[in-house]
Amino acid sequence: EELKQEKFALILAELKKRDAVLVAHYYCDPEVQELAELSGGCVSDSLEMARFGRDHPASTLVVAGVKFMGETSKILSPNKTILMPTLEATCSLDLGCPVEEFSQFCDAHPDHTVVVYANTSAAVKARADWVVTSSCAVEIIEHLDSLGEKIIWAPDQHLGRYIQKKTGADMLLWDGACIVHEEFRARGIAQMKALYPDAAVLVHPESPESVVDVADAVGSTSQLIKAAQTLPNERLIVATDRGIFYKMQQAVPNKILVEAPTAGEGATCRSCAHCPWMAMNELDGILEVLQRGDQEIFVEPVLAERAKLPLDRMLDFSA
Ligand code: 13P
Ligand code: SF4
Repeated sequence: EELKQEKFALILAELKKRDAVLVAHYYCDPEVQELAELSGGCVSDSLEMARFGRDHPASTLVVAGVKFMGETSKILSPNKTILMPTLEATCSLDLGCPVEEFSQFCDAHPDHTVVVYANTSAAVKARADWVVTSSCAVEIIEHLDSLGEKIIWAPDQHLGRYIQKKTGADMLLWDGACIVHEEFRARGIAQMKALYPDAAVLVHPESPESVVDVADAVGSTSQLIKAAQTLPNERLIVATDRGIFYKMQQAVPNKILVEAPTAGEGATCRSCAHCPWMAMNELDGILEVLQRGDQEIFVEPVLAERAKLPLDRMLDFSA
């Protein structure tokens, strides 16, 4: 704890020196979230991270999250310096949607509107008509469907299927998945429900369909935190990255939060659901990148300009 406070103090001084602000995702480790709050930065879902970074007056953003979040920040704020505590933090959805293959897929269906999840490379976003996050995906697809548009959806098949079911939209789905959420199992959750019959089940829609089917609330990270507050249940079974427990427990201090079991080690596994790439964001890395000023995110300007169009469309729509 003492060491943590020492590191906090060093980082706070460096942030000031660099005119920098820390933007962190809910899936980062608790101490990184604590620091982001303490320093006047933000801890939020991917949509709010993008908006906060764009609107903040600081000249440097330190993005604690994964690569696509750093790229999105750079695209929205080309004149800001974007630093990341690690440049190795990617995402299985981004990896599972290489731009060449995706472009061919789009070319094969020229009459479709291309909607991509924020968890994609800048190059894939540059090929899209719309970018969405799980906070606004259903509303945006509903809107496009009401205009009679046919949709290409990439890369998360589970989120895609969930939206398709909910809206009835005509969607062609890419077959990507999140390695963290894909591990949740409906059977394990049912066993847990048998133990705690009064518990409500909260599920992020990157989870498989069978898991979404047993949910009392489905939504993005910020929507799940809201659901935890709104639902009357005292005990909540939560199927998303365990990083979320830090802010969720703050929001509902008197409730009991239980991790949904994953396939990995059966119903007893209490730490499987944590994104290995989010976990790469550590206090030491944040301090070092601020001291050295390296590990900067760059996006090729032509690509960035093109990718900004569908991102702006999303931010305007959900403003
Ligand atoms: P949201 O915070 O937008 O729900 O995103 C979840 C996620 O997996 C980010 O990597
Ligand atoms: Fe990607 Fe899943 Fe990690 Fe989010 S939790 S960054 S979707 S691999």
